[in-house]
Amino acid sequence: IIEDVEIRKILDSRGNPTVEVDVLTENGFGRAAAPSGASTGIREVTAFPEDGIDNIMNDFGSRVALELIGIDSQDTNLIDTILKEIDGTDNLSSLGGNIIVAISLATAKAASSSYNMPLYSFLGGNMKNEIPYPLGNMINGGAHAGKNAPDIQEFLVVPVGAKNITEAVFANSRVHKRIGELIKAKDKSFTGGKGDEGGWAPNLTNEDALYIQAKACEEVGDELGIEIRPSMDVAASSLWDDKQEKYVYEREGMLRNSGEQVDFVEDIINTYNMFFMEDPFHENDFNGFTELTRRSGNKCLICGDDIFVTNAELLQKGIDVGAANAIIIKPNQIGTLSDTYKTIKLAKDNGYVPVVSHRSGETTDETIAHLAVAFSCPLIKTGAIGGERIAKLNELIRIEKQMINVTMAKI
Ligand code: PGA
Ligand code: ZN
Repeated sequence: IIEDVEIRKILDSRGNPTVEVDVLTENGFGRAAAPSGASTGIREVTAFPEDGIDNIMNDFGSRVALELIGIDSQDTNLIDTILKEIDGTDNLSSLGGNIIVAISLATAKAASSSYNMPLYSFLGGNMKNEIPYPLGNMINGGAHAGKNAPDIQEFLVVPVGAKNITEAVFANSRVHKRIGELIKAKDKSFTGGKGDEGGWAPNLTNEDALYIQAKACEEVGDELGIEIRPSMDVAASSLWDDKQEKYVYEREGMLRNSGEQVDFVEDIINTYNMFFMEDPFHENDFNGFTELTRRSGNKCLICGDDIFVTNAELLQKGIDVGAANAIIIKPNQIGTLSDTYKTIKLAKDNGYVPVVSHRSGETTDETIAHLAVAFSCPLIKTGAIGGERIAKLNELIRIEKQMINVTMAKI
């Protein structure tokens, strides 16, 4: 039974304000914080009310906490329904999706703590005791880095041959280091700058970044004796220009229409044996997604982030047209734990790989590590280095140690 709910304004990894919520029950305690995106999808719920966080923080006791006190913290569906009713809007713009998601997750954590259970086992009634593979972020561009960095937002790797999570996260950090050396060798003026998600932010073309990444995957893979595969998040909504109806690669001075974008991305998938390709098209370009999935879906995960925004209705639309075979899961895109689970379930029922993900603006909250394990998601995207990223990776190491008969996910 919930006895108190407290909210406070805290820092995120970009130095911007976000919220943290504490939920106290008779014999439990849960704390969760919300992250923030930089390349947000237009159909995400609204993160914060238009007038900022301060007003809602002032009214929090009367408007929110009082409504929750006395409710059973285990009843996630009821809690989430109450939160949505208090908000009263479709896009959660009154309370703010970030405030709602922090309460929703903190309540589940309070419930798990009152049973003395870690969150993953409390939520994971029929979980498979599998640890997700980490998609490590190596090079940052686009909205996550400065002007001369690549147009493509994220160059990622997956240590697909790793036999446990420790081997996997250290393989990623080793590739990250090696890529830093290779960038330095190519560009003597590189000063080691990094982007929002801890990947390097170099003055490189997409092509050079891809080449360096592939080389590092191969070298470190050979050194460690495991296969490491390149991946990327194009974050193409950030490249799309509605007026020109083209994907604009500013740094490269290139424009591509949707058809040219399909050819461009297909070529990258084939040349670099890509494991995972996120948002290769903008959030309304279902046709581009469907065509690429038709051509490459058997050899690469084609993953939707901005196009689905963790929303079951949008995912269903994608399923109907064969738009992808994987989906990014970010709880604060949809606002509640129960809606997050609903989307994961729909994805799995239709053969879409759910990939639980951080945001570019993060906190040291580790909850997504638990969600990925609880809901048996085979991949987690949460960077490779940096305090707010390793909070999740190190939590996975702890979880793996606690679990019995644990294996890596099947990917
Ligand atoms: P965001 O980007 O957190 O800035 O929205 C992450 C992503 O596009 O995957
Ligand atoms: Zn993305």
